[in-house]
Amino acid sequence: MENEYILVKQTPKLQGSVKVSGAKNSVLKLMAAAILIPGETRISNVPDIADVRLMQQVLESLGIKVGWPASDVVSIDATELNSHRAPYELVAHMRASTAVLGPLAARLGRASVALPGGCAIGSRKIDMHISGLEALGAHCHIEHGYIEVEVPEAGLKATEVTLDFPSVGATENLVLAAVGAQGKTTISNAAREPEISDLVDFLIAAGVSIEGRGTTKLVVEGILSANLKTGFEHKVVGDRIEAGTFLVAGALVGGPVTVTGFDPEHLTIVLKKLRETGADIAILDDGVCIERTGPIKAISIQTLPFPGFPTDMQAQFMTLMSVAQGSSIITENVFENRFMFADEIARMGADIRIEGHHALVNGVQELSGAPTVSPDLRGGAALVLAGLVAEGETRVSSLHHIDRGYEQFSEKLQSLGARIERFSS
Ligand code: UD1
Repeated sequence: MENEYILVKQTPKLQGSVKVSGAKNSVLKLMAAAILIPGETRISNVPDIADVRLMQQVLESLGIKVGWPASDVVSIDATELNSHRAPYELVAHMRASTAVLGPLAARLGRASVALPGGCAIGSRKIDMHISGLEALGAHCHIEHGYIEVEVPEAGLKATEVTLDFPSVGATENLVLAAVGAQGKTTISNAAREPEISDLVDFLIAAGVSIEGRGTTKLVVEGILSANLKTGFEHKVVGDRIEAGTFLVAGALVGGPVTVTGFDPEHLTIVLKKLRETGADIAILDDGVCIERTGPIKAISIQTLPFPGFPTDMQAQFMTLMSVAQGSSIITENVFENRFMFADEIARMGADIRIEGHHALVNGVQELSGAPTVSPDLRGGAALVLAGLVAEGETRVSSLHHIDRGYEQFSEKLQSLGARIERFSS
């Protein structure tokens, strides 16, 4: 995979329909949640992406059985969970592995999880995960590169936690840990991304009582793991970020492009911003059709927790703004250093100046194809999008980033008429 690359040629027309897969950011947490359940559960609409395969390995390393009864269905049987240690070799590649902290603490009373790696987008801390677990009564410390969590004999105790910032990962970890605590835990200033609501739905199907779905205050009532339901199947919510990526592709080249398999309400602000750039958007039952006939207008965006503009759509929007008429300011409020992509697209002729957490993008007439390297998951996808409108050929390497989160990315773009091919050198 290291030697693979995508070659994109300037594409005059992009049109047709594409269906997105289940959300990466949801399925990984659902797989972690299955740790709580001593029995079999099934998850459907699972994307076959590298991060899912890694999470499968993390679960298997804990003694959990994971199978693929169909190409998009994963079965997880955590009856024989026999280890509390998630090894560095696996966790180092994927930050989302920290999602196993909460459920391991809840079910086994112990967790030992290597400090994570993942996308190099700023110093992604886990202090809120740790202080939340401590508020539930766990003892946490970091030793030899591992977070060690120990729950006292009496078990986790329900509490009230207010997060400093609505962190997605900390909210999820606390919800999962709270399932194993005695009493009702209240999490205030909780993140309310659709993937968290998906996790809440999964837990409710497992018999957990949770109030406040989709709000900033979640109340989770603890339950004995033996009393959790097994044998149910949960369908992963559609990937709004994958959908947004294809919609930006449509806006860039013109469309019409129809993207299905997701809930348009999960992209409300992205669709609003795409309209402001001059695109026509039609909302369908399970997707959106986008078309642009006029010029791309420059607009400004700032990333914020949901329902604000998603940080995971920032790089794709930067590509769109690179060829817009006028200047745009892109403000990144969620992660530090999430502008590495700007250096790569600048090599294709984009005019971008970074000042702190703002990027000033002056639209240029045309980008020019170049050899590029994916800086991270979304940045890699955004380079491929840039290649669609760049004169000549664009080569995007370091595909392992894209493969972490996009299922069949080049094939799906090809089905829309993109002049794109994947090669191994
Ligand atoms: C998740 C998503 C990621 C998305 C991000 C924000 C997954 C697998 N990944 O990441 O794609 O970009 O949400 O929507 O679901 N922070 C702290 N202390 C903590 C936790 C977080 O300071 O304990 C900071 C982080 O450094 C970051 C910000 O909070 O600056 C947001 O992080 P968070 O919402 O936790 O993102 P992730 O769950 O890592």
